[in-house]
Amino acid sequence: ELPEPFQVPLPVPPVAEPVRTRGGATVHEVEQRTARQEILPGLKTEVWGYDGRFPGPTFVGESGRELRLRVRNKLALPTSTHLHGGVQEPEFDGHPTDLVLPPGFPDPRKSHGHGKHSMVKPSEWTVSRGHKEYVYPLDQPAATLWYHDHRMDFSAPQVWRGLAGMFLIHDDEEAGLPLPEGSRDIPLMICDRAFEEDGSLRYPSLDPSLTKEPGVREAYMEGVMGDVVLVNGAPWPELEVSAERYRFRVLNASNARRYRLILDPGPRQGAAFVQVGSDGGLLDAPRSHEALPVSPAERFDVVVDFGAYPVGSLVRLVNTLGSGGTRDVMRFRVTRKAGRGGAPKVPGRLADLRKLRAGQAVAERQFDFRLKQVDGMRMWTVNGKPYDPGAALARPRLDTVERWRFTSDFHHPVHLHLAHFQVLARGGKSPSATDAGWKDTVDVRPYEVVDVLVRFAGYRGRYMFHCHNLEHEDMAMMADFRVV
Ligand code: C2O
Ligand code: CU
Repeated sequence: ELPEPFQVPLPVPPVAEPVRTRGGATVHEVEQRTARQEILPGLKTEVWGYDGRFPGPTFVGESGRELRLRVRNKLALPTSTHLHGGVQEPEFDGHPTDLVLPPGFPDPRKSHGHGKHSMVKPSEWTVSRGHKEYVYPLDQPAATLWYHDHRMDFSAPQVWRGLAGMFLIHDDEEAGLPLPEGSRDIPLMICDRAFEEDGSLRYPSLDPSLTKEPGVREAYMEGVMGDVVLVNGAPWPELEVSAERYRFRVLNASNARRYRLILDPGPRQGAAFVQVGSDGGLLDAPRSHEALPVSPAERFDVVVDFGAYPVGSLVRLVNTLGSGGTRDVMRFRVTRKAGRGGAPKVPGRLADLRKLRAGQAVAERQFDFRLKQVDGMRMWTVNGKPYDPGAALARPRLDTVERWRFTSDFHHPVHLHLAHFQVLARGGKSPSATDAGWKDTVDVRPYEVVDVLVRFAGYRGRYMFHCHNLEHEDMAMMADFRVV
């Protein structure tokens, strides 16, 4: 029996407090542990959460100021924490083979035959015992990032259980803009989940112990979807708003579900969404959209003006790609007139954003994302091969721009670690209006060709790119690249 929609208030995850500042850096501690959380009214769900919460606390950093995140693993299984969209050294990037083992968990460097899909040789693991301190320089502009588990072969079930949270970066350029702030700047982490009768999360793992065989049952090969849509961990919540502008950091944290979000009813005047930022930070100028297509891991930083609705209005956030219960996402209730200090119209200029030109590319590479038969198993591959952590499929040079072309047989949200990119073309034509700005994830649609200009900046070393449909990811649709 699923709950009625719009009965629960929208929770907003707490902002994490640093435990200390060391030099110019802030130090945070977070503990990964299980907890029982009321998600469906009247039932308790066991979640795996950062600080025992789903979503985890929101980390807020300042551009150019180092943030150290000390993650302690109190779960029964290994984890790897990746700051998605973050520019950090390889050893702090949360590579899938770089594990934080709970006390007593067998060391994978000493055992053979880790998984069936996994090609990881014992020598390729890096291991920390109990905890790890991730160093994030945050030498990057204001942006909406997120963090989540990235354990080899088992990211999908571990994120499904709750290991994800928001991570915001602010800078002076953003602070100088009259965007809604404080209680009118709200993250919306959207994800779908499925539940058993008793309220526990349902996930079709081949190996529910998450120790031997990765992947999901054959029927879920394309990705696992749920019948309940959660926003910030609550089912179809409602948010009371005043008739003024709000800034929403929309993140699709679903394993496999894609959304096309609209407001119903739409505003009497003006666009439904004024986009001010993409994955990598603020846009140069705002873009108006009536609908937001959001594939897994993408972020849309948008301003919605509830001043375009009479007080008393009920405005649903609807997913036009969903049906039945997954059509609704959440609801806004316009309860009062604009308060004082509300934000004015979004300015016509936002951030200084350097547009990349195709002529800057020093290399062109093509990557094909496709389902293939490999050794008698159906696997999701990149250029015909399942993930091989020993092999770098590209060796871009630091501080250069390359043109990467993605082709696919299905919907694959392609994500690059470290390197941000701009979409150059879709199907040989102009990118969509919603492709604007710096991105780290792009939805490559079935049989579509997407060209992006990637800027390799920050650090040398081993990083990865992969499909962010988490089931595809666990079923080997990943590849390493090495910045040289
Ligand atoms: Cu959000 Cu490699 O992932
Ligand atoms: Cu995929």
